[in-house]
Amino acid sequence: MSEPIRLGEYPRVRRVDERKPPELRFSQRAIEELERIKKHYPNKRAAMLPALWIAQREYGGYLPPEALMEVAYRMGTSYAVVEGVATFYTMYNKRPVGRVMLEVCTNLTCSICGGYDILRYLEQKLGIQVGETTPDGQFTLMEVECLNDCGNAPVMQVGDRYYGNLTPEKIDALLEELRTSDQHTVVQLADTVVQCHLTESERQDIERALARAAQAEEG
Ligand code: FES
Repeated sequence: MSEPIRLGEYPRVRRVDERKPPELRFSQRAIEELERIKKHYPNKRAAMLPALWIAQREYGGYLPPEALMEVAYRMGTSYAVVEGVATFYTMYNKRPVGRVMLEVCTNLTCSICGGYDILRYLEQKLGIQVGETTPDGQFTLMEVECLNDCGNAPVMQVGDRYYGNLTPEKIDALLEELRTSDQHTVVQLADTVVQCHLTESERQDIERALARAAQAEEG
């Protein structure tokens, strides 16, 4: 089952007052990325999904109301429009999540091949239920729909990587590896998706723009 949408968690803000912009937290890199991605589309609003991925990365793995406000401001649209998109798609996190997000598929093929056993095993190993985060903020456990890798069922997504043919032994080894890594898999996934929206020459262009800005700052 997907994460429940709790619309009430967001304040009702009908539109952004552009004369009084919100507190802006996008890095220079994020601004450069968004400006280039916007140019891909005749209608700038079509860049909303990558804009939200940028925001999810910049705000540490989830989209608080301030992040939606900033996206609205940078996309020149209303908070309500951004909120409508962000709450429609399950890949945008509506509340803080752990450093490592474990997304276990329990759709048809995976459930036949033991997806629920894997899910229950992870609940027991981590001491949490589906949808919860461990008290140390390290792991969030989610149940997701088909990950489109049914041939390797049961499957789990962690950041931008898939792990298939899962067994309790494989889970033990993976949890050990993830515990000792310092990678924020949710932020890393967001960055991977953002990079996929840019061409190689745009990525190089951004690096040059950032280098010029750093040089100018040094004086
Ligand atoms: S049913 Fe799990 S990947 Fe398709």
